[in-house]
Amino acid sequence: VIMQRAGRSITEIFQAYGETTFREWESAFCREFSEPAGLVISTGGGALVSAENRIAMQAPGNILICLSISPDVLLDRLKNSKDRPLATDPQRLLELYKKRLPAYQQIRLKIDTTNLEPSTAAEAVIRLYQRELDRTRIRTRVQSPEGEYDILCGVNLLSQLPRLLIDYDLRGRTVVATNETLAPLYGQAVVESLPNAALVTIPDGELYKNLATVEQLYRDFAEAGLDRAGLVIALGGGVVGDTVGFAAATYMRGVRLIQVPTSLLSMVDSSVGGKVGVDIPEGKNLVGAFKQPEMVLIDTGVLKTLPEVELRCGLAEAIKHALLADPDLLNCIDEIRQGDPDVLRRVVQVKVDVVQRDPFEQGERAHLNLGHTFGHAIERVSGYQWRHGEAVAVGMAAAAKLSTAVSTLTQEKADQIIEILQKAGLPTTYSSYDPGAIWEAMHTDKKWRSGHSQFVILEDIGRPNIVRDVPRDIIVNILESIRN
Ligand SMILES: NC(=O)c1ccc[n+]([C@@H]2O[C@H](COP(=O)([O-])OP(=O)(O)OC[C@H]3O[C@@H](n4cnc5c(N)ncnc54)[C@H](O)[C@@H]3O)[C@@H](O)[C@H]2O)c1
Repeated sequence: VIMQRAGRSITEIFQAYGETTFREWESAFCREFSEPAGLVISTGGGALVSAENRIAMQAPGNILICLSISPDVLLDRLKNSKDRPLATDPQRLLELYKKRLPAYQQIRLKIDTTNLEPSTAAEAVIRLYQRELDRTRIRTRVQSPEGEYDILCGVNLLSQLPRLLIDYDLRGRTVVATNETLAPLYGQAVVESLPNAALVTIPDGELYKNLATVEQLYRDFAEAGLDRAGLVIALGGGVVGDTVGFAAATYMRGVRLIQVPTSLLSMVDSSVGGKVGVDIPEGKNLVGAFKQPEMVLIDTGVLKTLPEVELRCGLAEAIKHALLADPDLLNCIDEIRQGDPDVLRRVVQVKVDVVQRDPFEQGERAHLNLGHTFGHAIERVSGYQWRHGEAVAVGMAAAAKLSTAVSTLTQEKADQIIEILQKAGLPTTYSSYDPGAIWEAMHTDKKWRSGHSQFVILEDIGRPNIVRDVPRDIIVNILESIRN
């Protein structure tokens, strides 16, 4: 196209205007053709070296594939080429190849054409294109400070993991880390399906989300031969995701991580956003890191073995997402319960949108704590006898009442929220604990460390906000009203 427009060959363009001008035209071309328009665009090797061009060509709806090749075959194929000004000298070509390689490695989809004829390479392109097309239907792309990653959400995705690892170029020694409950259910089969993987298990339960388990994981990783180029797959609920994720973030200063959440809560909440960490006796999640995964793989089929009580806990977080940003989801509780991938993707999208806008929890991400200030305090006064999701459900009932007391949420809407929680089988009241003790327990909340109370409220369903320094009386009264 550039030759056509300039009315000259590439060599002539280079001679007349220089490479810089040619690259500028190339960039303009990439921008112009970045709009998906049913085209197959074959670029020169230099076009996608610029990150800006790569981003333009990967606009939503486009599929970018890198055809890679070994340097000796490249030299052989180009030896008679007349119109490649940068490929005339083999030594120079090799240097250029090495220089450009890091840029090519940024392109996720690759086909190695070293041993392929043009026709078989074309077939490989078509196959990859069709697979990608299928995948775009199940994919949510997340922008994070460390780059992009995909959340894939669908049925039976675990069986596709071997293929996915190849397509996403996630090779190397692999450790599948899971817990004792999930190892026989899914872990062993996953390890057996992968060519270079070892299984590592941790005990089941929040009690083991601690530094002792992390240390054991480091040692198991080392014993399994995991090196810096290795890959850790965290297969399990939020406890596995957080603990194994933290081990992956710190082992050898960080190895690549894939999150495979298996509980509803971890699918819609903990696997997204990059927060990993463990508990210490002084508090929950007090030690941690941000570790963005290479991919999150949600196989909704695994929900069939999730105990009902755990499903309900996940529903609480899903309802929270609906209340924060997608009220229509409140009409889809049954679909969420059944693990409908299309609906789960929407629930996940709420968290994705928030963490993309606030990756390091400096502002808006705090909205995800709706119901959590109350919930955490109930968990604490119960000596962690309450499940997190159920405590959050009571917390959301309290937050609904607070929203009516100090903001604009109508009484009718607050009642509606409580009814939705109850219909989902979640508690909205508590007994036994003294409201004053719950208020006191709130003061140890991480978010209150600066000395000011902080609550997430709803100005309306779908419109969260934060209120600070709410007087004790208001909170204690609300806690009194939901005590039975
Ligand atoms: N990192 C974050 O951003 C974030 C956000 C929210 C919660 N969390 C953390 O997540 C944890 C809670 O996660 P959770 O609710 O998934 O608890 P969990 O990981 O303890 O899982 C609950 C139980 O369900 C079992 N289980 C999970 N998937 C199963 C399946 N498919 N079939 C059968 N059994 C299955 C587990 O073995 C466990 O016994 C807490 O530690 C919390 O702090 C982290």
